Formats: sequence, C-alpha cells, structure tokens
Amino acid sequence: MAVAGTTEANFMHWGSRLTFILAATGSAVGLGNIWKFPYMAGENGGGAFVLMYLAFVALLGAPMLMNETMIGRAMRKSPIGALQSLTEQYNISKYWRSIAWMGSLSGVLVMAFYSVIAGWSLDYIVKMATGVFNGANAEFVGNQFGGELLANPGNMLFWHFLFTVLTVAIVAGGVVKGLERSLRFLMPLLFVLLLIMVAYSLATGDVEAGMRFLFTFRPEDITSASVLAALGQAVFTLSLGCVSMMVYGSYMAPGQDLGKTAVAVAALDTMVAILAGIAIFPIVFANGLEPGQGPGLVFISLPLAFANMPGGQFLGTLFFVLIAAAAVSSSISLIEPTVARLVESTKLGRAKATAAVGMFTWVLGIGCVLSFNEWSGYTVADKNFFDILDYATANVLMPLGCMMIALLIGWGLPKHFAREQLSEMSPTMFSLWRMMTRYVVPVGVGAIFLFNLF
Ligand code: PFF
Ligand code: NA
Repeated sequence: MAVAGTTEANFMHWGSRLTFILAATGSAVGLGNIWKFPYMAGENGGGAFVLMYLAFVALLGAPMLMNETMIGRAMRKSPIGALQSLTEQYNISKYWRSIAWMGSLSGVLVMAFYSVIAGWSLDYIVKMATGVFNGANAEFVGNQFGGELLANPGNMLFWHFLFTVLTVAIVAGGVVKGLERSLRFLMPLLFVLLLIMVAYSLATGDVEAGMRFLFTFRPEDITSASVLAALGQAVFTLSLGCVSMMVYGSYMAPGQDLGKTAVAVAALDTMVAILAGIAIFPIVFANGLEPGQGPGLVFISLPLAFANMPGGQFLGTLFFVLIAAAAVSSSISLIEPTVARLVESTKLGRAKATAAVGMFTWVLGIGCVLSFNEWSGYTVADKNFFDILDYATANVLMPLGCMMIALLIGWGLPKHFAREQLSEMSPTMFSLWRMMTRYVVPVGVGAIFLFNLF
C-alpha cells in the first residue's frame, strides 16, 4: 500500500491500479461485511433488507465511490485540505468544506465503536486457539458471548485498547508497505475461508430456512426504518461519506479508470457480505438461534459451527485472525483523513497526530464498551451509547456526506471537473453517472431522510 503524508510536498502514488483496488477493498471489506451485514439483515427481516441493500450498492454505491475518489485524486491533499482548495479554485461557497469536516468526524466516531467490536474478534482468536469452544453447544457459546465477553468491561477494554494500538502503529508508520504485502494474501485467504464456512454451513445447516430468510422478499418488511437501515448498511460497507475513499483517492495515480475500479471494489465487498450471510444463517436456523438478536449474531453462530466441525479449532482461530486483519485495514482508513489533516496543518508530526486521534477514539470507545454492560440502562429513544454512535454515523452522517458530495460534484462544480476525471468513460456511461450523481443520489437520500422524520 502507500504512503506517508498527503501534503503535496511528500506526495506519493499507490503502486498501480491493482494496489488502489487492494487498498480500497481493504477499507471496504471489514466488520461491516462479516459482523454487521448479517445481524442487520437478521434484525430487519432478511430478504427485503438484502434486496434493498443490493439495490443501494448498485445505484448509489458505485457512483459515490467514484465521486469520493475523484475529489481526492484531483486535489491530492487531505480531504479537509482538498475541499478548501476546491472551493477556492472554483470560487464556490466555503460551506462545501463542511463535507470534509463532517466526514473526518464520522470516521473518528465510527472508529470508536469499530475498535470495540474488532477487540471482540481479538478476544475470540484466543478463545478459539485455546480450544474454549471445542465441542460446545449453543447454550455454551451464547454464554461465552453474553456472559463472559459482554459482562466483563475490563476484558473488553483491554482488547479495545490493543486493537487501537495496532491501528495507530500502522497509521503512524505512514508508509504501510508491510500492509500492502499482507493485504495481498490476507484478503484472498479470508475469501477462501469464507468459502469453507459456506460449504460447511450448506452441508450441515438448515439450508432451506437460511436461504428462505435471506432471499425471500416479503414486502411487509419494507418500512421507512428498514429502508434507511439498508441505505446505511450500503454506505457503511463501502466506506462512503467518511471521506476515507477520498483520502485513498488522493494517493491514486492519474489516468486510472475510476468507473471500473469502483465497480470492482463494490462487487468484491458485496460478495464477501453475501457469503458471510450464507455461512451464517443456515447455522442460525439449524441451532434455533435468534436471527434478530443483534450484534452478537456472528460471535455466537460461527464459533458454534467451528466447535463442531473437523479442524474447527484451527480454522476458527484463523478465521478470527482474518476478521481482525480485515478490521485493521478498515480502521486505518477511518482515522487517516483526520490524521492526514493534522499532519498537514499542525506541527504535531505523523506519530503524535495518530496517537492523539487514537487516544480520542479509545476514550470514546470506553462509552461503547460500557454500553454493553454497566451503562446498558442509559438509553435515549431505546438506544444505548453504542447504538447512538452506530445510528448517527451509518444512518445519518455518512448518507448525508454522500448526498452533499453528490450535490457538490453534480451541481456545485462545473461539468468539466468530472469529465476530466472520468475521461476514460464513454459518453453514455458518463451521462448515466451524471444522472445518478445529480438526481438519484441526492433525491434518494433526501427522500429516505424525510420519510424517517415524519
Ligand atoms: N467499510 C468498512 C466495513 O465494512 O467494515 C467500515 C468503514 C471503513 C466505514 C471506513 C467507513 C469508513 F470510512
Ligand atoms: Na464493507
């Protein structure tokens, strides 16, 4: 992967188009696919949610991926710096800059809970490796999660801290060459392991019930809340609206085909999520687990599968290592926009800037840790601290960011800005992209917001 600072002075490119795809996929594929997608589908009734999610990825996801990378690539600065230059250069309202401020902030807010959940997967590496789950039944696995993990804030804080340190160490290093090399084999390995899980789940799970749940469309499951949840999931899983893809775009070499790249990233990310769903739901139904139980779903259903499959101790350990690795490569991109800005505009230097951001997200994450135990009773509109952070980012700030970026590119900037960035696109595709950006994204997101307000 690349790259230290994002200031023009020490600007560097990703090695190649493939490297960008790898980095963007590293950001996209993470807990959103393996942890969040299954439980969101479970909570929102399955088939209808999955269909809406797929529709949002196709309609909104691909064009928005292009839009974010385009701005980064054109300006080659941290998102906050990029928006500043953009508004000056094209003499448009400085309020557009709020996109980058809001996006950087949402990345940091996501990181606060993301690192807590990633900490769970670190804890599960140890649990798996030491054979805690060997031969376990559903009740035992459920207790390990609800009793042992969630009820022990001290333990959770430790793993949450460790994960934060891991992310900070990599981001502080700046040039993440090692990460590029590891992503190159970790991602395919994760994919292979998911395929093994899918095979196991199809062989031993309740395939009919699982598939019916995931892929049967029941119109009554479409509510204003579930539409927003599907939109939020599409945006979250593709790392949109947090200006992460913008900061990665700023490291992208000119002359690469943004359209094809965006489609590749969206397709890979979607494939991982769907595979995770197919790996999980047949097992959920075969064991009488509750599909709508929330954030614990994956941490209960998968260990249960590993507990009873041949070689499960080894495969399970490897699986949670890979989840943690996928989470690191996403969390890097969550804090990079803020770090890049601090490096650009303060005297802190990269190491101190990263440490400061990590400290902030860790402290905020303490609130998340406690929301699963000591503070679980403190709720607003039935949402605890974790729920609020999750809802505020995935369902509000990130879609809002997407909408504003679409408005900026579609209406705020002259047409030739995008045409130059998308020079390789055919006129038809360009018109299609432009229609999506000018109308479909802003109107769609706006309408979904309105329906949820009233
Ligand atoms: N896309 C990541 C996932 O699916 O796990 C999460 C994420 C990363 C969201 C980076 C937002 C972001 F800026
Ligand atoms: Na994702």
